[in-house]
Amino acid sequence: MRIADFELERYFARWEFAVRHLLCASDVEGWPMADLLALADDETAALWRDLRLGYTESTGHPLLRREIAALYLTAEADDVLVTVGAEEGIFALVSVLLGLGDHAIVTWPGYQSLYEVARAAGVEVTLHELREVDGWAIDLDELRRQVTPRTRLIVVNAPHNPTGMLPDRVTFQAIVAIAAEAGATLLSDEVYRYLEHDEADRLPAGVDAGPHVVSLGVMSKSFAMAGLRIGWLATRDRSILDRVARMKDYTTICSSAPSEILALIGLRARERVLARSRSIVHGNLTALDGFFDRWPGVLSWVRPRGGSIGFPRLRADLDADRFSAELVEAEGVLLLPGSRFGHPGNHVRIGFGRTDLPEAVAGLERHLARVVRD
Ligand SMILES: Cc1ncc(COP(=O)(O)O)c(C=O)c1O
Repeated sequence: MRIADFELERYFARWEFAVRHLLCASDVEGWPMADLLALADDETAALWRDLRLGYTESTGHPLLRREIAALYLTAEADDVLVTVGAEEGIFALVSVLLGLGDHAIVTWPGYQSLYEVARAAGVEVTLHELREVDGWAIDLDELRRQVTPRTRLIVVNAPHNPTGMLPDRVTFQAIVAIAAEAGATLLSDEVYRYLEHDEADRLPAGVDAGPHVVSLGVMSKSFAMAGLRIGWLATRDRSILDRVARMKDYTTICSSAPSEILALIGLRARERVLARSRSIVHGNLTALDGFFDRWPGVLSWVRPRGGSIGFPRLRADLDADRFSAELVEAEGVLLLPGSRFGHPGNHVRIGFGRTDLPEAVAGLERHLARVVRD
């Protein structure tokens, strides 16, 4: 299989562990192991203590699948398949659903694997472009026009990476309907779900919206446990999960035994886990409001409605690639230039899920003070 480089991941491979401050990470500050274990109930504490390091069930630990299903209104444990990160879910789902001659529509800019895996399989991919002038909104009329008789998959990610876009319920239901009318599966990438900046804006989960919709979830973002590498697909179309399970035999076979139990502990304590994430993200977002107020005309953004990232634009004389390279050199602060999404608009991705955000922003402001001329 030949597949284009994953530009964002290559960038992180180069920089993530070499800089002082990651001001573009999409995950929330990871849980300390001891703090997570302290949340275990009697059953999960015993599961952890008595854990044997053998292979695990390919579809995922039954208790974990049950706990994931409890996140949704209509799902049962058998409607859930555990994957290694959300990334394996994307790879396996797209691989089994699509082949040569099929057509897919994917929101863009976005997380590259959501369209690149399909392209590598010979699928014709139409990018549904989100535009800053529209507040990064999904254009339902354009989406309808993009559907063809060969459309098998529509992919929507909300809250959205990198813009923080979050459609309203009416728009989401319309997307669900467009996919149903097209006879297509809708992949609803919900890895930033629960990080809505106004909880009233939370969308229904895809799995609850219709049997042709697949929810993609993960422990990495809102649950702040990226190192577990536990993700999942949830859909009431069990034939899809069965096909994905057969593909998984060629990728990872099953998940890590310790990670499954730790994910179970985290999900059972989800109210505390999510409260911590929201407190970090909302505190940082308020700090960023102040930051943008201090640099009017230099950096501006469509304020994210959900998630832990946003996609501000730099003033035209400050080239995003050059600015990011000089910033990391001068201050050890990492931003992610929009070019890594193949986006030409002089944007950078900024992440606000980490607790060192005040120091990172201080470094960014020192650099701005040096390079900005009024
Ligand atoms: C929208 C989106 N989907 C999926 C993923 C993959 O998640 P994970 O790295 O936990 O597998 C990411 C990671 O950044 C993402 O932003």
